Amino acid sequence: MTNDRERWGTRLGFVLAAAGSAVGLGNLWRFPYLTWENGGATFVMVYLLSVAVVGLPILVAELVIGRRSQRNPVGAFRLLKPATPWFLVGVLGVIAGFVILSYYSVVAGWTLHYALRAATGAFVHHTPQEMADRFAEFVSDPGEQILWHAAFMLLTMGIVVGGIRGGIERATGLLMPLLFLILLVLAGLSLASPGALEGLRFLFRPSLGDLSGELVLAALGQSFFSLSLGMGAMIVYGSYLSQETNLTTSAIQVSILDTLVALLAVLMIFPVIFTHAITPTESAGILFTTLPVILTDLPGGQIVTVLFFLLLAFAALTSTISLLEVTVSWAIDQRGWSRRKSTLLLGTTIWVLGIFSALSFGGGWLAEVTVLGMRGVFDIMNGISSNVFLPVGGFFIALFAGWALTRGAAEEELSPATGWSTWVSVWKVLVRFVAPIVVALVFLAAIGLL
Ligand code: PHE
Repeated sequence: MTNDRERWGTRLGFVLAAAGSAVGLGNLWRFPYLTWENGGATFVMVYLLSVAVVGLPILVAELVIGRRSQRNPVGAFRLLKPATPWFLVGVLGVIAGFVILSYYSVVAGWTLHYALRAATGAFVHHTPQEMADRFAEFVSDPGEQILWHAAFMLLTMGIVVGGIRGGIERATGLLMPLLFLILLVLAGLSLASPGALEGLRFLFRPSLGDLSGELVLAALGQSFFSLSLGMGAMIVYGSYLSQETNLTTSAIQVSILDTLVALLAVLMIFPVIFTHAITPTESAGILFTTLPVILTDLPGGQIVTVLFFLLLAFAALTSTISLLEVTVSWAIDQRGWSRRKSTLLLGTTIWVLGIFSALSFGGGWLAEVTVLGMRGVFDIMNGISSNVFLPVGGFFIALFAGWALTRGAAEEELSPATGWSTWVSVWKVLVRFVAPIVVALVFLAAIGLL
C-alpha cells in the first residue's frame, strides 16, 4: 500500500465528493429526457429497481476494489490479480472516461452559456416555443459550441491539476446542499402548476405494455451513468479512502442522494411540460427549454434561473472532475507522468475528441452518421458509452468482486465492525449472481440476441 497517496479529509467529505461525482448532468439533464423518450413511469420504475438491485452492489464493489488496491482502475486490477487479463476492465474504464467526458463537457458548456444568458435577462417572458427555437439556434452554432466546450474543459483541468482534496472536497460540501435546496423550491413551484396531476401520472403510473428490451437497457445504462459506475470512477475515489470508512453506509448514502436529485429533476420538469402542453422535439434540450418557462413570470425568477444554471454547471463540474481524474490517475500511476502533464495532455485530447460531438447539432455528416439506430456523433458517443461501455464494465467489475478477489478480502473491507455479516452475504449473492445475470440478459435482449 502506498502511504503517501492523497486522502479525503473526512468521511463526510468523501461521501459528498462521491455524491458530487454521481450527481450531475446525468440526473438533471439525461434522466428527464430519457424518461420523456421512454414514455415515463415504466422507465422510472425500472430505473429505481436497477439502482437498488444492480447499481448499489456494484458501487460497493468498486469502492472495495479501490480501497483495497489504493490504485487507479488499471493498476487496481493488475495489483489484485497480477498477470491476468483482468486489467483490461480497467483499460475499458479509462477509455469510457475519455469518451464520456468528451461529450459531457459539451452539455456542461451549455449550462455556462445559459447562466450567462439568463443573467442578461435574455429569457424573460419567453414562450416554450421561443425557448425551443433559441436552443436549436444555439446548439447549431459551431463557434459557440466549441467555445463553451473549451471553457468547461479548462475549468475541469484547472481543478484536477491542483489535486483533489482542498478544492473539490471543500466546494462540494457547500454547494451540493444549495443545489438540493433550489431543486426543492423549483419542484415545488412546478408541482403547484395546473399540469401537476398529469405530470405525476406520467411519472408514476407505469404500464406493463411499455416494457421492452431497449427500455430496460436504457434504464440500466442510466443507473450506471448516474451513479458513475462501470468505468472505475468509484474505484479511484475509493482509492483515496482510509480504512475507517464504512463502505456500505457511504454507498447507500450516495445512492439515495443521487436518486433524490434525479426524482426532483423530473418533478421539476414534467408538470411544466404538461401545463404548457409542450411537445419536446429535440429531447436533449428538455432541461434547457422548460426551466426558464417555470420562472419567467415569478418575482425574482431571473435570479433563480441564473442560480439554477450556475449550480447545474457546478454539479457538472464535480462530475467532469471525477471523469478526468480517472484518466489522469491512470497516466500518473501507470505511465509515470506528472499530474500537470497528464492533465494537460489528456484534457486537451478529450477536448479535441469532444469537438466532433459539439459540432454534431449543426447538420452535415457529423449529424447524419448513424450507428445502431443512433444518429449523430453526439448521440452515438452518449448511447455507446452508457449502453455498452458502462454495463460491460459493470458486469466484469461485479464478477471480479464476487469471484476473483482473494477469499476474505471483501469481507475485510466490508465488516469493520460486527453486525454487517448478513449484509456481506447478501452483497456476495448480488455481485456473484444477480447483477451479472441481469446485466447480461438485458444487454443480450436489447441487442436482439435473446
Ligand atoms: N454520474 C455523472 C452524472 O450523473 C456522470 C459520470 C459518469 C461521472 C461516469 C463519472 C463517471 O452526471
